[in-house]
Amino acid sequence: MSAEEQVAVVIGGASGIGWATAQLMAGRGETVVIADLDSDAADARAAALGATATAHQVDVTDGAGMRTLFDAVLDRHGAIGTVVDCAGISRPGTIADLSLDDWKATVDVCLTGAFLTVKEAARTVRDGGSVVLVASLNGRQPGVGMSAYCSAKAGVLMLTEVAAMELAPRVRVNAVNPGFVHTPLTYGATLVPGLVEEYLENTPLGRAGTPEDVAQTIGFLTSDAAGWMTGSAVDLNGGAHTMRYPDIVRRVSEMTTGS
Ligand code: NAI
Repeated sequence: MSAEEQVAVVIGGASGIGWATAQLMAGRGETVVIADLDSDAADARAAALGATATAHQVDVTDGAGMRTLFDAVLDRHGAIGTVVDCAGISRPGTIADLSLDDWKATVDVCLTGAFLTVKEAARTVRDGGSVVLVASLNGRQPGVGMSAYCSAKAGVLMLTEVAAMELAPRVRVNAVNPGFVHTPLTYGATLVPGLVEEYLENTPLGRAGTPEDVAQTIGFLTSDAAGWMTGSAVDLNGGAHTMRYPDIVRRVSEMTTGS
């Protein structure tokens, strides 16, 4: 199937990594569906992409809503070639302090959302299509104060492998593990003195990522060039997975107590 005939659903496509991915896919001639909790942003992004793009509001944690989204895309376009789940949130806090609600919210969006994405993709993606889940460096590298996010992302990595087995050989399922990328999700971290600097000291290539860095890898994984890849997780973090993650709790504590 040519790129022009491809339909790509990008969940969390209204911001950051998802938006860069949506632009890359539109740029290679695909019809892009931007699905996001933030309907105003999704509408604006779809309008910016042009006539073939559409926006849908969805909560990635809502099974019925996800089913409605995929049915609507099938009704409109007849086939889905690519599904990318970029929806994510992070609620930091040490295990002793993190509320159960914050744990559940993070695991729900990051892990249950990925499960529902694969579940819907399994019944709607055409033969030869593919799914990419955005996991994280934190799926394999622990960070103090990040229990919910790290656990959910580690879960996404195992989900990717199970899904790859279950959907093969019809549909490929892969993941990406970005390190620190400047997006609205990480804006708060940039306000903590020394935090990004500590991250970069532990990044051999010495820089944070851009949403476009991640979109390029997602673009590769969803292309025919990656036709022999499934169940894989690609690390892209400037080499940070070889080092250690900053101690966010210590940095925030220093910021608030001044010591
Ligand atoms: P972002 O905050 O710029 O974009 C996330 C998007 O997900 C937003 O448009 C938001 O409205 C949407 N979203 C949030 N909850 C949702 C829900 N329940 N249902 C549907 N959409 C929802 O964040 P960013 O940085 O682009 O993150 C994208 C993915 O990359 C996330 O899974 C994140 O965990 C992951 N990631 C990000 C890294 C970073 O440093 N920015 C590093 C590693 C992974």
